[in-house]
Amino acid sequence: MAIEPLVDTYGRVHRDLRISVTDRCNFRCQYCMPAEGMEWMPREELLTFEEIEQVARVLVERYGIDSIRLTGGEPTIRAKLPVLISKLAALDVDLSITTNGATLASQAQLLKDAGLKRINISIDSFDRQRFIDLTRRDDLHRVLEGIDAAVAAGFEPVKLNAVMMQGINSDELLDFARFGREKGVQVRFIEFMPLDAEGKWSNDTVVSQAEIIETINAEFPLEPIERTSAPATRYRYVDGKGEIGVVASVSDSFCGTCDRVRLTADGQFRNCLFAVDEFDLRTLVRSGASDDAIAAKLDEAVKAKWAGHQIGQVTFIRPKRSMSQIGG
Ligand code: GTP
Ligand code: 5AD
Ligand code: SF4
Repeated sequence: MAIEPLVDTYGRVHRDLRISVTDRCNFRCQYCMPAEGMEWMPREELLTFEEIEQVARVLVERYGIDSIRLTGGEPTIRAKLPVLISKLAALDVDLSITTNGATLASQAQLLKDAGLKRINISIDSFDRQRFIDLTRRDDLHRVLEGIDAAVAAGFEPVKLNAVMMQGINSDELLDFARFGREKGVQVRFIEFMPLDAEGKWSNDTVVSQAEIIETINAEFPLEPIERTSAPATRYRYVDGKGEIGVVASVSDSFCGTCDRVRLTADGQFRNCLFAVDEFDLRTLVRSGASDDAIAAKLDEAVKAKWAGHQIGQVTFIRPKRSMSQIGG
């Protein structure tokens, strides 16, 4: 069957699928979950590996999706994750994971052996107490070990995601840069987005791309790398010691070139991180729907995609679900 690209009404071609495999997490990051935690989805509401595989296969075979990223909650705490990874690896896509890194010391090699290609690890501070305040877990040492384990298992590149927040960790910009240069990992500085469960976001809490680049460039000179459709704007160190990225969702939105779609752990298809509406694939898949019927639903959902989010404008609507339920 010929591959037809998944194009929306603005002409954007979609190639990147993000699958949340669980809404559960062993951390409770301030910007993602409320202090009292969340009520987890009941197990029977989660898509099974076979159900996930069917949706992914239709997207790959019919629509040429060539990149799949597993997210959460925390994806590595879904039981038997390597089994899902080996199923998805057979689809021959750029298969990656975004994780908090705390379980990687024991899992990195298993994930690699199952066919995982890339790992992005979230870490927002190198200070133990601050890390505890941010994640509500005393696990900084585990995440640092996890980063080493990912490098040792041969993942290349290993990327670190650091959400920068004014007055919270913005004084660590250069520590992140130094760490990345020394370890040979790519740090991506992320502008804080209004997806936090506690609603603490305001424009003043965002550390902008301009501030990030200015601060790092003053200490370690940078030069831009040509842009691709990926959200990060990339820069390399002039002295050849690697590169960094900035995900400037707020100050320099990349919605115009967005190529992503998402599947939540409970089988809802989302055409945007900030989408207000979801498309119920679980009911369809569980009714024994054919690949044709699933393909038609996916096309309908992508055709309904909007031009982009409106962060910072009065028209912005915060999605009903928090980041941990949508899948980062
Ligand atoms: P690569 O494929 O390695 O470039 O990674 P990625 O940037 O796709 O993935 P990752 O999961 O590491 O996400 C990095 C940051 O980008 C996170 O803070 C995400 O929340 C944010 N992000 C991911 N997808 C989107 C999106 O569709 N829109 C916006 N605005 N931000 C996103
Ligand atoms: N703004 C920006 N990034 C966020 N993440 C989680 N919540 C937010 C937010 N409100 C990031 C995490 C992780 C990825 C899954 O999303 O740090 O890197
Ligand atoms: Fe968990 Fe990631 Fe959310 Fe932190 S950002 S609570 S690690 S899902």
